[in-house]
Amino acid sequence: MTYKIGYLVGSLAKGSINRTLSQALITLAPDDLEFTEIPIGDLPLYSWDYDADFPAEGRAFKQAVEASDGLLFVSPEYNRSIPGALKNAIDWGSRPWGQNSFARKPSGIIGASPGGIGTAVMQASMRSVLSFLDAPQLNTPEAYVTYDADDFAPDGTVVNETTAQFLRHYMGEYCGFVQRVLAANAPGHI
Ligand code: FNR
Repeated sequence: MTYKIGYLVGSLAKGSINRTLSQALITLAPDDLEFTEIPIGDLPLYSWDYDADFPAEGRAFKQAVEASDGLLFVSPEYNRSIPGALKNAIDWGSRPWGQNSFARKPSGIIGASPGGIGTAVMQASMRSVLSFLDAPQLNTPEAYVTYDADDFAPDGTVVNETTAQFLRHYMGEYCGFVQRVLAANAPGHI
């Protein structure tokens, strides 16, 4: 069976190392996962003024999240937190009140930084946000990627075999997690 995974890159930078990481993860993932990027860069800054009449960008974002079997957030850490563009997208998906698109969506959170903590603080913030939004998250393994440009080719090929093995393992565990959550969400499951 194929599972539709919507992935969100938390950086808008053209040369984003997290975009490179996202390509590596897609390459290393089990064949059961089919990936579509959910873009965040065209969303206006959210305000609840929009709730009465969501603009096309907001509707498209929510539809893309809802059409996904699972979500994968691949994001940098900015100032020890979630990049503003990604938090803005999450706010869009969470509203209007009562129409939270993230509810029950199995989610993975991963990110790369040149620094030693590899986005750990961003990921902790994301867990808080996604817990509030009722999105179950892969807890183990955690993946805090300290980015070394020598490990990755620009197309996402992972040159360092130890890194490739680690990321392959992460995606295998993520795939199993998505399957388990979808089975638990299925009608009739107690
Ligand atoms: C950073 N960077 C950064 N790194 C980190 O490990 N912890 C942090 O809190 C921050 N804060 C931060 C804020 C802002 C505004 C920028 C632009 C950068 C460095 C960051 O990890 C590095 O620029 C990465 O290349 C960002 O990932 P992308 O955008 O290349 O995917």
